[in-house]
Amino acid sequence: MTFSGKTAVISGAASGMGLLCAQCYAAQGGNVVMADINLDVLKERAEEINRKGKGKAIAAECDVRNYEQVTAVCNAAIENFGSIDLLVNMAGGAETRMRGVAAGAEFPDIPIEVYDWGIDVNLKGQFYFAHVALKQMREQKSGVIINLGSITGEEGCASNVAYSTSKSAAMNGLTKSLAKYGSQYGIRCCCVSPGPVLTRPGMASMKTALGRAADPQEIVDMILYLASDKGSFITGINILIDGGRNIL
Ligand SMILES: NC(=O)c1ccc[n+]([C@@H]2O[C@H](COP(=O)([O-])OP(=O)(O)OC[C@H]3O[C@@H](n4cnc5c(N)ncnc54)[C@H](O)[C@@H]3O)[C@@H](O)[C@H]2O)c1
Repeated sequence: MTFSGKTAVISGAASGMGLLCAQCYAAQGGNVVMADINLDVLKERAEEINRKGKGKAIAAECDVRNYEQVTAVCNAAIENFGSIDLLVNMAGGAETRMRGVAAGAEFPDIPIEVYDWGIDVNLKGQFYFAHVALKQMREQKSGVIINLGSITGEEGCASNVAYSTSKSAAMNGLTKSLAKYGSQYGIRCCCVSPGPVLTRPGMASMKTALGRAADPQEIVDMILYLASDKGSFITGINILIDGGRNIL
């Protein structure tokens, strides 16, 4: 796989799988626009990529809940690199963890603001980025969009109800809709739904049939495969990459 001369926009790129995705894409010659709320860290990580001298990286501060900021990120990709060949909607997370809700709190007692955050980041953020990036992809008549789902979306979760809602039916609907719309322009869209991934040590306790959580590289490799020409006949699907948790 080579991404030489291509450009990826990756949200949630300051840490975890978003960062790894940016590093791997650039290592294969691609340029990356890294978007995240965490600008200080983002700048450092982009600098590291640039020092390696392969693909170029730009750090772009962006809250995915803000359509204007999302638009500015995509514009930065077009102005600096001339195209958006890949959009990876990586920014996200479970709202009770991200908003510091105490373990054991029950759904009706958790403030609605926590769930607003969950829906806005995990669903609207992905939706916003697709809406903006597709304008450019339509013009190019090419492009790949990867949405991030989660096994938690497939299973349901008693407390992370917004996360689960956003990462399952919503992401499937968004992915299929974008794939249907994009196909006339040669644009593909897939959803990747990981099981537990070791971006945090705590994920090791989540059971899988294979008896372990994923190394982040295992998920990123799938995303890059889908983004490359090797994945050229794959669109409109949700790939569960969960070590067999779904069969337990
Ligand atoms: N780690 C897992 O076990 C797992 C499992 C299934 C799905 N996922 C999904 O994979 C994706 C990446 O997960 P990760 O573990 O690498 O996460 P992570 O927490 O390491 O990274 C998420 C990034 O998103 C950024 N972010 C948060 N809110 C944002 C906002 N409003 N605007 C812009 N950026 C924002 C954070 O700053 C962070 O850099 C997420 O969508 C997550 O839900 C993760």
